[in-house]
Amino acid sequence: MGRYASRNDEQELALQQEYMKKAVSYVADLKQQLGRQPLCCVTTFGCQMNARDSEKLLGILTQIGYGATDEESEADFVIYNTCTVRDNANQRVYGRLGFLNSIKRSRPHLKIALCGCMMQEQTVIDKIRKSYRFVDLIFGTHNLFKFAQLLVTMFENQEMIVDIWQETDQIVEELPVSRKYSYKSGINIMFGCNNFCSYCIVPYVRGRERSRDPKEILQEIERLVADGVVEVMLLGQNVNSYGKNLDNPITFAQLLREVEQIEGLKRIRFMTSHPKDLSDELIDVMKQSKKICRHLHLPVQAGSDRILQAMNRRYTKEQYLALVDKIKTAMPDIALTTDIIVGFPGETPADVEETIDVVRKVQYDNAFTFIYSRRTGTPAAAMEDQVPETVVREGFDKLLKVVQDTAKERAALLQGKVMEALVEEVNEQDASLMTGRLSNNMLVHFPASESLIGRLVQVSLDTCHGFYYTGHVVE
Ligand code: 5AD
Ligand code: SF4
Repeated sequence: MGRYASRNDEQELALQQEYMKKAVSYVADLKQQLGRQPLCCVTTFGCQMNARDSEKLLGILTQIGYGATDEESEADFVIYNTCTVRDNANQRVYGRLGFLNSIKRSRPHLKIALCGCMMQEQTVIDKIRKSYRFVDLIFGTHNLFKFAQLLVTMFENQEMIVDIWQETDQIVEELPVSRKYSYKSGINIMFGCNNFCSYCIVPYVRGRERSRDPKEILQEIERLVADGVVEVMLLGQNVNSYGKNLDNPITFAQLLREVEQIEGLKRIRFMTSHPKDLSDELIDVMKQSKKICRHLHLPVQAGSDRILQAMNRRYTKEQYLALVDKIKTAMPDIALTTDIIVGFPGETPADVEETIDVVRKVQYDNAFTFIYSRRTGTPAAAMEDQVPETVVREGFDKLLKVVQDTAKERAALLQGKVMEALVEEVNEQDASLMTGRLSNNMLVHFPASESLIGRLVQVSLDTCHGFYYTGHVVE
């Protein structure tokens, strides 16, 4: 395939814009037929990357004339943007497809589409072709930019459309995006992953690592800021290796320095960091920065060296702890979060104790704990010593308790402090309260007016409730 492209594919962009025009007429026909505006429902499973992809899907759907709804039962087009990192996400998709089928029986014009990581697996496609024949359109992670074209094909055909690519070197951005939040946005800075952690299916379904051209990233952020965005989340499976394959290689830290210069931008976040690639330069840039949030998500996955090696993580417990020390010394106020897997093949209760030891030593502000899920095609799936479920459960529960206790202790330390919060939304339970996010990613609820949404305010963290605070605005 040669060098990976990093620049936007303008020709493809123009082509898709043509397809959008064509799709407009099909949606207009549908509108006439229904006597009302057709509605679409985009349902997202999985990570922030998928959430961003869904904004792109919705951007195109609204552009061609659909209204948006969260209710599948009133939608005329439903799309599931799927995840396959763990099997439970897959099972949820199958379960909900059964329900969609029952809706489709009473609403035959309902169109159903599936996309995302799960669709990159041949076994999934085979199963859908066989048992879920009512699905109208299936595509994967590499050709999402073709969505407008695929919609046109779907409107012009009765049978199931399946278009899955194994790989791509194309990057097609600048299609319409319908942002969920007016004041914050994710931005893809790279796609794919080259790490091949032995349990993980991502490199197989998202393909090889490709970085976007830094100029295009900066321009996109500038446009977002002009449109009211104050916080950006730079997205990639492994942002610490950003830029290595570019024609003019730059580091992630250098990119951050440039993003920092963008006037009007107030906060910068990023996801996800692989510990093996986290540089001193990055720590330094974070430390100097006024905009980069005091939060680092640094997946550890396991604490036992033997398991880390079998996972192909390429660091030891000691190296990880030394890195954490370095980060905390440079930025004592940083919040650290992590991902942990319990039940990797061969993991013993003593190995889990090593993980628990890491949690105690690092004092994570939050940790996402997962039970190991065997993913077909990954090296770990073929390993012997798959751990029995009861043993996994026991280790998992023990770990979870330590994770929760340390997180609560960490949160309690900030009680009574005044900190800056970005006002995000009306509190879901109590409409008199607003919910704000601190730089360290914790949430605080406080009485305020809705007009403050998207603004940064100083909030006193009066009471800590374990994983969030209640407080009041000062000033
Ligand atoms: N089983 C359980 N958890 C997994 N993750 C990735 N693959 C698996 C798997 N096979 C977790 C990792 C990763 C997070 C996004 O999902 O902890 O960091
Ligand atoms: Fe999966 Fe490892 Fe890549 Fe993360 S770094 S996406 S865990 S292979």
